[in-house]
Amino acid sequence: MTARDLPAIQVVHVVVNGAVCELGDPTRRLADALRDELGLTGTKIGCHAGDCGACTVLLEGEQVCSCIVAVGQCEGCAVTTIEGVAAADGMLAPLQRAFVAHGAAQCGICTPGMLMSASALLRANPTPSEQNVLDALAGVLCRCTGYRKIVEAVLAVARGDVVDAPAPPAGAAVGARVARLDGRAKVTGAERFGADLLPAAAASMLAMRVVRSPHPHARFEVGDLAPLFARWPGLVDVVAAADVPHNAFAIFPDLRDQPVLADGVVRFRGEAVLALVGDAAAVDAIDVAELPIRYTPLPAPQASADALAAAEAGTPIHARYPDNVLCRGRVVRGDVEAALAGAAHVAASSFATRHVEHAYIEPEAGFAEIVEARDAAGAVVRRVRVFACTQTPYLDRDEIASVLGIGPAQVHVVPSAIGGGFGGKLDLSVQPLLAVAAWKLGRPVRLVYERPESMQSSTKRHPAAMRASAACDAAGALVAFDFAGDFNTGPYASWGPTVANRVPIHASGPYRVANVRALTRAVLTHDSVAGAFRGFGVPQSTLLGELLIDELAAKSGIDALEFRHRNALAAGDTTPTGQVLRASAGLRACLDALRPAWRAANEATTTFNAAQGPKRRGAGIACMWYGIGNTVIANPSSMRGALCWSAARGAHLVLYNGAQEIGQGTATIMPQMFADAVGLALACVEQVMGDTDRTADAGKSSASRQTFVSGNAARGAGLDLRRQLVARLGFDDRDDADVALALERDRLVGRLGADVRAIDLHALARAQSGDGGRVDAAVELFAGHGHFNPPTVPLDADGQGVPYATYGFAAQIAEVEVDVELGTVTLLHVHAAHDVGRAIHPTLVEGQIHGGIAQGIGMALMEEYVNGRTDNLHDYLIPTVGDVPPITVHLIEDPEPLGPWGAKGVGEPALVATAPAILNAIHAATGVRMREVPVTPARLRAALLARASEGRAP
Ligand code: FES
Ligand code: FES
Repeated sequence: MTARDLPAIQVVHVVVNGAVCELGDPTRRLADALRDELGLTGTKIGCHAGDCGACTVLLEGEQVCSCIVAVGQCEGCAVTTIEGVAAADGMLAPLQRAFVAHGAAQCGICTPGMLMSASALLRANPTPSEQNVLDALAGVLCRCTGYRKIVEAVLAVARGDVVDAPAPPAGAAVGARVARLDGRAKVTGAERFGADLLPAAAASMLAMRVVRSPHPHARFEVGDLAPLFARWPGLVDVVAAADVPHNAFAIFPDLRDQPVLADGVVRFRGEAVLALVGDAAAVDAIDVAELPIRYTPLPAPQASADALAAAEAGTPIHARYPDNVLCRGRVVRGDVEAALAGAAHVAASSFATRHVEHAYIEPEAGFAEIVEARDAAGAVVRRVRVFACTQTPYLDRDEIASVLGIGPAQVHVVPSAIGGGFGGKLDLSVQPLLAVAAWKLGRPVRLVYERPESMQSSTKRHPAAMRASAACDAAGALVAFDFAGDFNTGPYASWGPTVANRVPIHASGPYRVANVRALTRAVLTHDSVAGAFRGFGVPQSTLLGELLIDELAAKSGIDALEFRHRNALAAGDTTPTGQVLRASAGLRACLDALRPAWRAANEATTTFNAAQGPKRRGAGIACMWYGIGNTVIANPSSMRGALCWSAARGAHLVLYNGAQEIGQGTATIMPQMFADAVGLALACVEQVMGDTDRTADAGKSSASRQTFVSGNAARGAGLDLRRQLVARLGFDDRDDADVALALERDRLVGRLGADVRAIDLHALARAQSGDGGRVDAAVELFAGHGHFNPPTVPLDADGQGVPYATYGFAAQIAEVEVDVELGTVTLLHVHAAHDVGRAIHPTLVEGQIHGGIAQGIGMALMEEYVNGRTDNLHDYLIPTVGDVPPITVHLIEDPEPLGPWGAKGVGEPALVATAPAILNAIHAATGVRMREVPVTPARLRAALLARASEGRAP
């Protein structure tokens, strides 16, 4: 019987992945029915509005967004989801293998949608062109990959050229393009993101819906809620500020200022006011207009300048900060005034940036449940377990404990897979709300944000209002840089201090400048809370700095690349904080690598522009540097690794890896480094990720720190374990490095030349397990520990010290085509050279660079978050597959002596240079200097018209 022969009855019959299924409600979204009724959570939800494509499935072979298809439209139809793509025997389909081999999945939340779109294309057209692939994938957004590796993977399948990633031998995992260890879960839809898992006691689970402020600043009162319970019997509770034992959280414990639920005053539009808890149907059905909340709107300055003026007028946002300045940053070295006065050339400008939204495709989600456990003394302890998407499980644990007024040991954070973070999931979101409700009610509570709620309530990139002057001597050597910037941090601290402190250190760019003054303020306002977003303010200041460098190069009559090369920081140079760079400062090598592309791009644009027409081309270049890890403050990471034996697996390694995987690849590179440090094959490694009960604290996945900091900890754990194994085998310590280890099912074998020794691990496990020698669970036989905290020196009042142990460097070239009649900008090519110290996994490093460039394109040309106007993925534009041009990556490996195998970090450096390179390219193409981003067609067209009115043609 085919699906179409099925009888028409009340329920809807759909053939899902070849099996006839009954779905209950014809009006339901197909995506929700697949997930909730059939448990097919491989179909992801990013927007529920047809904008992101994460929910793409095949309906009768055609790709559709299943969130905007009603179940009733599918009667008798065949639906294929990601779960139906792999062969019945579990073998991956060629497309899935290609995605793994090419590094086409990072966080993985878009991957099922991408795979379904690609499979629809390949069914219809087995030999597509690249343009066909771009067209087919245009409806699916990816915020991580920059799309290029996805396109490569699809074209590889079309060519019949899928080559699985290699499995390296023992000791050779570092530097190899191995398959991501979490790759299979990503391409099969098996990963469990925040909305994909239910608590064990799902039958008693309650749903939460958060009521949020429609005002940027208001007093409010909540009236009698009793009628609400009478009207909606499924409503169990309305959680309010009074239910929160300690109603404040933050990133920095001494700055706790953000309430879990507002207490009589709201300070930004979207702030949480009440949480409705009950059965899902009831809390969904309640009309917020029914709620007895009376708001009294108050003045709400949303720009930094307005907030500073309001403070002067005596109305600060918090009494603690009477000037509305959360904190200041300062780096002063030399005599800037004198250097500017004596310089041969001076360039000066202002620059403005806007809020940028992280736009991770996974909205925040999770659940909390109450569990009982016994402490060391055998007493029963009440604990809260929180499963949620997070970049920082240990910070979550401590802040939840603080909010509830309990000890950290009573909180257990189990991170979900994370569908993109980029800094936005460093701040708490659903976690404290869920914990408070579950703690109060004693029942599991679940919360899944819809897209607008995610965008309204989450942090953003700080809008910046900056001005600066830069100067050089007659030979083109930089002599002075003078910078001042206000960063709009919103009403709560979040990461404002980090931005205010990081920017002055980086403001003068990766150049030798003897005289620097860089001053910043994090200004409190009633706009969205600004937080961490890939770069902590450095992308904003680099836009201004690289504009000035270009202008000084032009005034000096020196090519823009050569001017940068002449001034580039190198080993032995002193930075504006007085830090002497000991090694690994590979900016000149980056510029050397780009020189041929720079020359070719400039020649090509000259030739193109010789023809008159509305299209003008230009090439722009920009450089960056980025301190790896936290600024000065402690930055430790700890890892533990063990040699275990189990009946199911035999001998194997386990890495307890607390370096949170957010798509960047810590679930792969930490095992690579651990395995090589032990000297055993990567294939031997299993791992436990993130869980605060089971892994040591590896710190946050932020500040590009995990490869450098946690990589050292993973290496240390491996070396410690290796030392123990070599000793147990009876080899001399001095032979440690030369002993070749191997794991057999039951034995550890060590070889030193002809000297071969072995340990019977099964026998050890039997002896250790007791219980008559039975071994049911894995037995840990040896364990190694690693710890690393990068050396830094606190900054003094002038910002002098050693803020970071090492820096990443990069240079990028953007080639653009501008339509001067429309004001549109098309990227033609990006060339990126990055000094990463050592590429532990070159494919993943390239993927980070591609993804950073895509976000840089968005920042330069299209992304502007306006609270209340662009809080969805329809009005808030991020780059699609068609917006990202071919990217050529040059990996420069100038080894960092402190880094594991010389590695530094690349997550944030990937983004920083892209937007300024694009703006410099627009200038090269048109002569127009844009001094704000995003450079929308309207803004560029206005600037072009203004220039034309001055009688200057592009
Ligand atoms: S969830 Fe369906 S398009 Fe975004
Ligand atoms: S891998 Fe595409 S959104 Fe993360």
